[in-house]
Amino acid sequence: MSTSKCCRICCVGAGYVGGSTCSVIAWKCPEIHVTVVDLNQERIDSWNSQSLPIYEPGLLDIVEKCRGKNLKFSTDIDQSIIEADLIFISVNTPTKTFGLGKGRAADLKYIESAARRIAEVANSKKIVVEKSTVPVKAAESISRIFASNRKEGVELEVLSNPEFLAEGTAINDLLNPDRVLIGGSATSSGYAAMKILSQIYEHWVEKERIILTNTWSSELSKLAANAFLAQRISSINAMSAVCEATGADVTEVAHAIGTDSRIGDKFLRASLGFGGSCFQKDILNLVYLCEALNLPEVAAYWNQVIALNDYQKRRFANRIIGSLFNTVTDKKIAILGFAFKKDTADTRESSSIYICKYLMDEEAHLVIYDPKVSRQQILSDLKHPTISDNPSRVDKLVSVTDDPYSATQGAHAFAICTEWDLFRTLDYQRIYDGMLKPAFAFDGRVLLDHDRLHDIGFQVETIGKTVGPRELCLATTPPPP
Ligand code: UDX
Ligand code: UDX
Repeated sequence: MSTSKCCRICCVGAGYVGGSTCSVIAWKCPEIHVTVVDLNQERIDSWNSQSLPIYEPGLLDIVEKCRGKNLKFSTDIDQSIIEADLIFISVNTPTKTFGLGKGRAADLKYIESAARRIAEVANSKKIVVEKSTVPVKAAESISRIFASNRKEGVELEVLSNPEFLAEGTAINDLLNPDRVLIGGSATSSGYAAMKILSQIYEHWVEKERIILTNTWSSELSKLAANAFLAQRISSINAMSAVCEATGADVTEVAHAIGTDSRIGDKFLRASLGFGGSCFQKDILNLVYLCEALNLPEVAAYWNQVIALNDYQKRRFANRIIGSLFNTVTDKKIAILGFAFKKDTADTRESSSIYICKYLMDEEAHLVIYDPKVSRQQILSDLKHPTISDNPSRVDKLVSVTDDPYSATQGAHAFAICTEWDLFRTLDYQRIYDGMLKPAFAFDGRVLLDHDRLHDIGFQVETIGKTVGPRELCLATTPPPP
C-alpha cells in the first residue's frame, strides 16, 4: 500500500450498506478500484445484472456508470482482500437469537469471521474499516484478532466509519452527508489511516463535514444517532395516543413543536410504529451494552423507546379490531404497503408484519398489496416462526395481489401500512364502491386526505387524530393491559 493514499478498496458484504456506499465511492473516485465481495453467489450475480439485489432510487445508474471500469462485484473474497489497500467490513450484525444476550445483543459472528479471514490471507499492510454497526469496543476485538495472528510486515490498522444512510434515500444521503464520521486510535498509524480514509470522502464531501474521533466515540455515535431518531418517533407516537384520547391532532402538534428551532421538524411523523433493520436492533444492542456496563437505569430508559413502538403497533391493530365491531374473524382486510417505509423493497422489522400477525391471530383474511415487495418475501415474512406457529394458516388467511383495487374489492376495511406516494392518488371513490359497507379506512401513516375519505362515506381511523363524529373513536376497545 502507498503510505499516503488508497488505490484499491475491497468491501466485504454486498448488502444495502456495502453495495450502495462502494458504488458511490467508485463513481466519485474514478482512480480507485473498488471490489465488493460477498459469500452469496446469487447476490453477486444480481449486482452484476440489470436487476440489482436491492431497490434504491438512482443506484442502478451509478452502478452502470462504473461496473466494468473501476467497480467490480465478486465472490473471490481472498483475492480481493490480498489486492486491497483498504477493506470495508459491511457484513450484517443481526440481533442474537440464541445464547447469551439472546434477543438483544448483536451477533458479531460475521464480523469476526471477516476479521479472521483478513488476518489469514492479508500479506501486506492494510486499513480495515468497520462499516457495519457494532457495539462499542468491537474495533478493539478486531484489533486483538489481528494482533494475535500477526504476520511479519503485515500491519492491519482498524478504523470505525459508521454509515448513516437511510434506505430509499441512500444515494442522496451518501452524496450529501450531514457528516462522515471516522474513528481511529490515537497513534501515528491511527492518524495516518484516518487521513487516508478521509481523503477518499474528500473527493465529494467538504472537509468540515468529516469528523475525526476516537474509535469508541465513533462506534457509540452510530448507536446514539439511531437511538435518538427512534426516540423522536416513539415520543410523537406517545403523543398520538394522547391526541386520540383528547381530540388534539398529532400533525398539528408535530408542526407546532417542530417550529421550535431547538426541537426541529424532522422525524416527527406519527405512524403505526417504526421498522427497518437498524432502529430496534441498535437500541436493543445499546440496552444490552448498558446492562453489561451495570447501568440498569440507562438501559431501562432506552428500552422504553422499543416498548412504546411495540405498543403503537399493537394499538393500531386493536383499533382495527375494535372499529370492526370487535371481530375481524373471516373479514377481508386489505393491507396496503408491506415495506418498512416507502421507496424500498426491504421488509426487515416492518410494522406491517406485526399488524398482519395480530389480525391473523384473530383469523382475519388479508389481501396484501405492495408496489415493490415480492409475494415470496411477504409470505416468507409471515411464515417466520416468530410471527406464525403454523405456516399453513398463512396460506389459508393471506393472499397477495399486484393491484390495489383488487386488494380492496369486497373488503370490510383497508389499512395503509407503508407511506407509498401512490396511495395518495388512488381512486378512493372506486375503492369505496367496491367495498362492503360500512367501509373502513385505517390510515397508519397519516397519509390520506381524511376529510375527503369521510365525505365519500368511509369511516376513517388514523393515528393521532379523530376524523368525523368523536363517539366513533371512543367506541373502540381499549388495548389490553
Ligand atoms: C446493515 C449494516 O451494514 C449494518 O451496519 C447493520 O449492522 C446491519 O444492516 P446491510 O447492508 O443492510 O447491513 O446488510 P445486508 O443487506 O444483510 O448485507 C450484508 C451482506 O454481507 C450480505 O449480502 C451477506 O451475504 C454478506 N456476508 C455476510 C458476507 O459476505 N460474509 C459474511 O460472513 C456474512
Ligand atoms: C435509519 C437511519 O435513519 C439511518 O441514519 C441509519 O443509517 C439506518 O437506520 P432507515 O432504517 O433506512 O435508516 O430508515 P428511516 O428513514 O430512518 O426510517 C426508519 C423507520 O422509522 C421507518 O419505518 C419509517 O417509516 C419510520 N419513521 C421515520 C416514522 O415512523 N416517522 C418518522 O418521522 C420517520
